[in-house]
Amino acid sequence: MDGSPGPPQVTTDRFLRACRLEPVDRTPVWFMRQAGRYLPEYRQLRRDRDILEMCRHPDLVVEATLQPLRRMPLDAAILFSDIMVPVAAMGIEVRVVPGVGPVVPNPIRSAEQVYRLSPLSAEADVPFVMEAIELLRKELTIPLIGFSGAPFTLASYLIEGGASRNHERTKSFMHSEPEAWNDLMATLAGSVLSYLRAQAQAGAEALQVFDSWAGALDPDDYTLFVLPSMRQIFEGLAELDVPLIHFGVGTGELLALMRDAGAGVIGVDWRVPLHEAWERVGFDVAVQGNLDPAVCLAPWEAVEPKALAVLRRAAGRTGHIFNLGHGVLPGTPVENLQRLVELVHVRTERTEPA
Ligand code: CP3
Repeated sequence: MDGSPGPPQVTTDRFLRACRLEPVDRTPVWFMRQAGRYLPEYRQLRRDRDILEMCRHPDLVVEATLQPLRRMPLDAAILFSDIMVPVAAMGIEVRVVPGVGPVVPNPIRSAEQVYRLSPLSAEADVPFVMEAIELLRKELTIPLIGFSGAPFTLASYLIEGGASRNHERTKSFMHSEPEAWNDLMATLAGSVLSYLRAQAQAGAEALQVFDSWAGALDPDDYTLFVLPSMRQIFEGLAELDVPLIHFGVGTGELLALMRDAGAGVIGVDWRVPLHEAWERVGFDVAVQGNLDPAVCLAPWEAVEPKALAVLRRAAGRTGHIFNLGHGVLPGTPVENLQRLVELVHVRTERTEPA
């Protein structure tokens, strides 16, 4: 016994309960990118700092993570970081340009470049992430979500060299160099596994994998070129016994396949009505979503009915986590998100004891 106090007691575990399809007193709610530029205090904190540099400072990470929680009673915190943090730690040159996104000046265009990559070893390469998680657990009374980008989404940035509408180079590489592609997926999957395991061991109580751009693929290519690495990741994490969330954008036609990857919670964007998405993945997994984040730029009178439509489609089932269908957009009025949290909590209050 070292006499140090343990982490503060979690005061609400409705987020973790919903992830496990257990009954809850109210539907839990959090927002992807709940820390970000829509918050004046975030803009003030970041100023002209480089975001990847910011992610390497545990004190700044803790502050950015906590900022949205001071504004509204969210049911989960998400570690402030970026999907490119582990990529940079693998020795790949990467910048995140405001208004543009990640930029990789020397993109991967050959099999040789793939074979030269060495996987991330999280404890050695990104110790500051685990340090931030340990600090956060001392502050938080709600669950902390750790996260990683998924191999396909990371590979798309590495091969395209930046954001891409059609992911042509990625798809072309995948089809012309299938062996090198599989090697790249294996290296990235191993890195993601190491990264997420370390986050859970440091205290993250749920893990979300962002495969933001997987929706660019047809179901055959997703099955052949992406699903095996996603399975490997979720199988490797199963023993940790923390809820696993698998999210992508534009993945309506991939939802059943994503479910087969093995996470217990599937994040869905706004393009598929929530009840239809839930039918596609099956009611024995939890779903997270799915209000269109662009709606939140409009006056509250427009936001409210759209949020109520999501709740109506969730139909009071256990296993719904309210969220947006993608990240909070800069320019979103803070008040809209505050009112959303209240609306979800008030309208879903269960009268039966949970
Ligand atoms: O959700 C949270 O509050 C945690 C923080 C978080 C960030 N990035 C911080 C960030 C998370 C979960 C991410 C993940 C991320 N990063 C994804 C997956 C989720 C998604 O949006 O699909 C992707 C694709 C990235 C890559 C990336 N980083 C993009 C596309 C951008 C936006 C570029 C821009 O300026 O529009 C970034 C920068 C970034 N990461 C910001 C934040 C808050 C923007 C604000 C800033 O520059 O300070």
